[in-house]
Amino acid sequence: MERTCRNTELSIKDVGRQVTLLGWVAKRRNLGSILFIDLRDRSGIIQIMVKDADKVPDIRNEYVIQVKGVVGKKEVANPNLKTGEIEIIADEIVVVNTAKLTPLIIADETDALEETRLKYRYLDLRRPCMQKYFDIRDQIKISVHSYLHKLQFIEVETPMLCASSPEGAKEYLVPSRLHHGSFYALPQSPQMFKQLLMVAGFERYYQVARCFRDEDLRADRQPDFTQIDIETSFLDQEQFLEMMEGLIHEIFMNTIGYDVKLPLRQMPYREAMERFGSDKPDTRFGIELKDLKEVFKDTTFEAYKSAETIKGICVPGVAAETSRKVIDNLTLEAKKFGLGGLAVLKKENGELTGSFVKFLSEAEKVALINKLEANDGDILIISAGAYNRVTPLLGALRLQYGKQLGLIKPNTYDLLWVVDFPMFERDVESGAIVATHHPFTRPKDEDLKYLDEDPTKVISYAYDIVINGYEAGGGTLRIYDQDVQRKIFNILGLSDAEVEKKFGYFVNALQYGTPPHAGMAFGLDRLAMILGGTDNIRDVIAFPKNLAGVDPMSMAPTEVSAQQLEDLGIVIKDKD
Ligand code: AMO
Repeated sequence: MERTCRNTELSIKDVGRQVTLLGWVAKRRNLGSILFIDLRDRSGIIQIMVKDADKVPDIRNEYVIQVKGVVGKKEVANPNLKTGEIEIIADEIVVVNTAKLTPLIIADETDALEETRLKYRYLDLRRPCMQKYFDIRDQIKISVHSYLHKLQFIEVETPMLCASSPEGAKEYLVPSRLHHGSFYALPQSPQMFKQLLMVAGFERYYQVARCFRDEDLRADRQPDFTQIDIETSFLDQEQFLEMMEGLIHEIFMNTIGYDVKLPLRQMPYREAMERFGSDKPDTRFGIELKDLKEVFKDTTFEAYKSAETIKGICVPGVAAETSRKVIDNLTLEAKKFGLGGLAVLKKENGELTGSFVKFLSEAEKVALINKLEANDGDILIISAGAYNRVTPLLGALRLQYGKQLGLIKPNTYDLLWVVDFPMFERDVESGAIVATHHPFTRPKDEDLKYLDEDPTKVISYAYDIVINGYEAGGGTLRIYDQDVQRKIFNILGLSDAEVEKKFGYFVNALQYGTPPHAGMAFGLDRLAMILGGTDNIRDVIAFPKNLAGVDPMSMAPTEVSAQQLEDLGIVIKDKD
């Protein structure tokens, strides 16, 4: 169709120019015989002035129109618009297509429920603020392609229909029609393929890779998401991290013009847990966790005597607003973390108050105030119990208060590496040993000796990049020795026979001249979220699922026909 340019390509320099524009009607104002239209295209909005309103066809919001006219200078400029100094004085307006009344207002500000926005996603995406997120997302990918290509990386696609993998529990399965009773699994990540590409001698691989995980959804998690997946040969951890820092620098600069100061600092996992109660600490504010074991060394309080861990935080200035109800809610929070409860004390007029005070000796009171550096008006929250319950609870409360008290300055970026993760951890619920990152992670050379004696002591070559409290990416150096790899699988409860059956192809490949290799994957959606300034991952995914894993537009997942099930040999049982 005829079109001279996009709306915001025009400026005061174009006054007098004859143009033809195309776009959507964002707004109309009829001032007697003069009609003003805000015309929106992907680039932005421009005002159209129609002198003879009666001669114009009926035009409603969101109609697609073509405007022919001359660029004119506005008497009073609109500073809120990029094209605010000019307007188009229309000679002719053609309605290209009409539009029904939209179920949501197409503007940055919307009061539509998210469910409505997702149901009419194509209209929601028409909102300029949504399009900005996708510009940022696109710019991240352009930066990735250009930076990595300069460093001789090659993009290779890996399969979507895969064999079931070691992290099995979160997989989506796809039944095979040709092989009754057999299933493909959708990849949770291209992990094994990219390692095999290193065995194949590619040396530097990357892929903007779709990944699928059937896990509980959160504000920063989708079942169907995208990774910037990277693998390299022959680099040690420091060389690899430096290369990735360069990429992050480029992404921040090209998307929001922010100059990330390099090198990024590195924080051992243990320190992150001790101080911030999280392996993805937001270090832009204090309220750090303090160890109180020493304070309570002579405690008479039964539950504290045997507690593995006693820790506390001091929240500044909230004593007055900490009602009984607030304390009850904090207790409920502790229960969610599998703890019986927690103690909340207030410091007022130099004294500690609260129901827990009766269990404290004078010396403990003083030590507590000193250790938590509590001032009048503060509250002290103390939790005791298993280390892997107490630390995340206090970490979560710290974050909640940091946000609630506005301690985080907007538009500030906090980037760091969390390193030295334990190779294994115990599942909180089952107590089973599981891999902290994944089973291909290389244990630190000096810790190989603990593999037999106590695997939970083994630290691995693993690193996560944390930005503003989000895990924006993570990776590891990989095992390239088949015996170590088998051993790790054994520790994770897989017998040699099971390893052979499930990953024989992979372990065998390690015997054919596998180079030392390292890699990581960034969450593209999470990066877009952080750089776009939203805390909702769904904002940066064109057609996301809601928190129940449903797409309210297409209603996926849906039931399928009896014939389809028959062809696949699948019988659906009623849920008990
Ligand atoms: P990991 O599981 O840590 O590592 O994933 C890498 C990054 O992907 C993002 N991410 C997600 N984003 C949105 N929704 C999800 N459900 C989701 N899950 C993960 C996060 C995370 O940091 N194969 C390894 C990487 C490697 O070792 O090379 C892996 O997948 O930003």
